[in-house]
Amino acid sequence: MQNQHTAVLGMQWGDEGKGKIVDHLAHDHQVIVRYQGGTNAGHTVVVGKKKFPLHLIPSGILYPEKTCVIGDGVVVNPLVLAEELEALDKRVGKRATLLIGSKAQLIMPWHIVRDGITGKKIGTTGRGIGPTYTDATARVGIRVMDLASKLRFSTMVAQYAVYNRELIEGLLRYYQIKPTAAEKTKIEQALTVDDIVRKYTDAWEKLKAFGIAAVDTSQTLDEADRAGKRILYEGAQATLLDITHGDYPFVTSSHPTVGGLFIGSGFRPRELTVIGVLKAYATRVGEGPFPTELTNRTGEILRERGHEYGTTTGRPRRCGWLDLVVGEYAVRINGVDGIAMTKLDILSGMKKLQLALAYRKGKVVMTRYPADQAVLEKVESQYVNMNGWRDDMTNKARAFSDLPKAAQKYVELVEEYLTVPVKYIGVGPGREELVRR
Ligand code: GDP
Ligand code: IMO
Ligand code: MG
Repeated sequence: MQNQHTAVLGMQWGDEGKGKIVDHLAHDHQVIVRYQGGTNAGHTVVVGKKKFPLHLIPSGILYPEKTCVIGDGVVVNPLVLAEELEALDKRVGKRATLLIGSKAQLIMPWHIVRDGITGKKIGTTGRGIGPTYTDATARVGIRVMDLASKLRFSTMVAQYAVYNRELIEGLLRYYQIKPTAAEKTKIEQALTVDDIVRKYTDAWEKLKAFGIAAVDTSQTLDEADRAGKRILYEGAQATLLDITHGDYPFVTSSHPTVGGLFIGSGFRPRELTVIGVLKAYATRVGEGPFPTELTNRTGEILRERGHEYGTTTGRPRRCGWLDLVVGEYAVRINGVDGIAMTKLDILSGMKKLQLALAYRKGKVVMTRYPADQAVLEKVESQYVNMNGWRDDMTNKARAFSDLPKAAQKYVELVEEYLTVPVKYIGVGPGREELVRR
């Protein structure tokens, strides 16, 4: 009998509430693994009055007896990780053990500069994610293991700083950007070898002092599996942001979809339950298609009630109705076994609700998410109308039967349309504010 492992991943465009669900499921898992993405992620865990925004650290970190792993598929900025861990350790007495994959790629200062130039039209988070994955694929990346020897690390930094100077100058010419004096200074800093080597090795020493170790995570996960432990995979970003299966080019540069977890963790396929996190409405940060977007007052209401501002960049999130064309796509691509529907409480008090079940372009009705951006831009969503509900659920509802009847109907419609059970329902940001079925 194989151990039952679990994956939690986003079914829309990110910020579905993956952090909260991972924190909940971490209870009965022993190892929690991030497998892709990097500091672009912002996962929030709320315990009592305390809010923990996590970027690189897996959302199981608050349980002292667990092991958290930053897998080889994650792109790591050691400066940000050291800051994040320091801030966390000041707030919590004990936390989980944290390990990093030695094969994980490092986000370097020049990646952040390049992202600032090439990421504008996508509306990236500006954290250097795309350029780091680009360099990994082009085989000119620096990895966590390279930090182990200062000589090896500084030789690589010196070599790639030259390469990146050429690249950045070329990009500035191509995009016809004339940097200001302040921007020029920033670029120079991002290419200054001694400075980078000092900052990165200092951060690495700091991380080691915090008890972080670079390991072969495939071995860690293999040993955990053999010892009968359960692994919880924590996806960052979401299905529609997948580099291959998302709204290319308005995507991130990794694989948030289920396939990404095998590569990014280095652990072989095993018995796996996939929990897809689906917000009760839809949001998107950055550019790209969004067929159910509400650019009116209703969209503003959703943004204000749902506090829809980015955890990482603070940008206002675009808001819209729940889109089950997107939902069907995410179920199909990831093999979702159960849905965690979050933020249902945010819809309380809305008189009428709408859910998209199809798109229409001219006379053509589509129930499958189209891959072509030119088509997506022109589609009109076809909605079903639902009655809203008034009652508060955050403080009252802990069982499905506690939910207002109209809210139950909303959940059941999603289940029926997607033919996947909704196993968890978020009724508030806090750890306990969850309905389990
Ligand atoms: P993630 O990136 O998928 O982990 O999601 P974020 O943390 O970026 O955004 C989700 C936000 O909604 C966070 O502020 C959470 O604390 C909050 N949240 C999660 N689930 C619920 C819920 O069921 N109800 C409410 N009101 N807030 C929630
Ligand atoms: P979590 O894990 C929402 C979006 C950016 C941009 C695109 C590419 O918190 O759900 P990138 O910096 O990755 O190259 O940006 O992807 N994006 C996210 N949107 N939640 C995230 O993470 C995101 N990470 C990236 O806004 O549109
Ligand atoms: Mg987020």
